Amino acid sequence: MMNPTQTCAIVTGATSGIGTEIARELGAQGHALLLVGRREAAGTAIVEALKADGIVAKFHAADLSEDNAPAAVVQAALDTFGRIDILINNAGLLSKGAAEETTDAEWDQMMDVNLRALFRLSRAVLPALRASRGVIVNIASDWALVGAKGYLAYAVSKAAVAQLTRCMALDHAPEGIRVNAVCPGDTDTPMLAPDLTGSERAARLAEYGADVPLGRVATPQDIARVTAFLVSEGAAYMTGTLIPVDGGMTAD
Ligand SMILES: NC(=O)c1ccc[n+]([C@@H]2O[C@H](COP(=O)([O-])OP(=O)(O)OC[C@H]3O[C@@H](n4cnc5c(N)ncnc54)[C@H](O)[C@@H]3O)[C@@H](O)[C@H]2O)c1
Repeated sequence: MMNPTQTCAIVTGATSGIGTEIARELGAQGHALLLVGRREAAGTAIVEALKADGIVAKFHAADLSEDNAPAAVVQAALDTFGRIDILINNAGLLSKGAAEETTDAEWDQMMDVNLRALFRLSRAVLPALRASRGVIVNIASDWALVGAKGYLAYAVSKAAVAQLTRCMALDHAPEGIRVNAVCPGDTDTPMLAPDLTGSERAARLAEYGADVPLGRVATPQDIARVTAFLVSEGAAYMTGTLIPVDGGMTAD
């Protein structure tokens, strides 16, 4: 049961990886959650696990690249919780390839899911955030901040998310809405080394980790904790920031 003063957070891409961990962190902070993802069975299982820990949560199934998705997500949050205080734009897809290895379809998919869907949901949620003086956190990438070899469309989509973060922060600061981005480095989720399993995958992640100043790839919790901080009162004076959470990779 929601209590009448409980704040509501929408977390997209919550059926996996970083999104699931962000949901856990925000739930532990006392926010009620609307988890958004494409996979109903996985989403329902995550909601049940959160509820077992006393967290108020509901799953809303949506493919965010569909035109009617943002309005339906906002309606679901308002119908369920009566308010929206936080939007975590975490859903994303990865595609590999330099320019000549990137098809039109791959380019369009990166822009549709990583950028257009994020923009359209952020826009749809603004009236509710205006009422709550709420917060948006975009999960971008360290490749939003520096060039990436062999991941052109993905890196361009994430760099655009960084610029959207700054611009929306400026546009909506007068309304008390804060907009920031977290820029993760390699993080141990299904997105990383998806073609490998077991010891082969562990070896690949260790290789990736060896290139990181802090000597390992991130855990989803490393990313979720910084996201939860950006939402909290501790970050009340932060907007328009792009925070690398990358073990020092972009300091190099
Ligand atoms: N894992 C990494 O190394 C890493 C590094 C930097 C940034 N990121 C970013 O972190 C975010 C989370 O990724 P992750 O690592 O947890 O990967 P993941 O693949 O485990 O999770 C991505 C989530 O987004 C969802 N999603 C994708 N397309 C969607 C759509 N059209 N509609 C609704 N949901 C959709 C997926 O279903 C999944 O739940 C992504 O934006 C990703 O780009 C990840």
